[in-house]
Amino acid sequence: MKAIVDAEACIGCGLCADACPAVFEMGDDNIAKVKLAMVPKDAEASCREAATACPTEAIKLQDS
Ligand code: F3S
Repeated sequence: MKAIVDAEACIGCGLCADACPAVFEMGDDNIAKVKLAMVPKDAEASCREAATACPTEAIKLQDS
């Protein structure tokens, strides 16, 4: 699975980095960044939680 943050949609609430710190981190610009090209298997559940929690639906997940 691959995760993508739409930087235009992100409002910097930080929920994704809290829910799934293995995959998301906040950048200096307070926009979430994806740290890993592929979501590790053991982080998929928390990554889906992060996508669901995002208030602006800025996180897209692609199954691969
Ligand atoms: Fe941004 Fe959504 Fe994360 S608004 S900080 S991508 S939870």
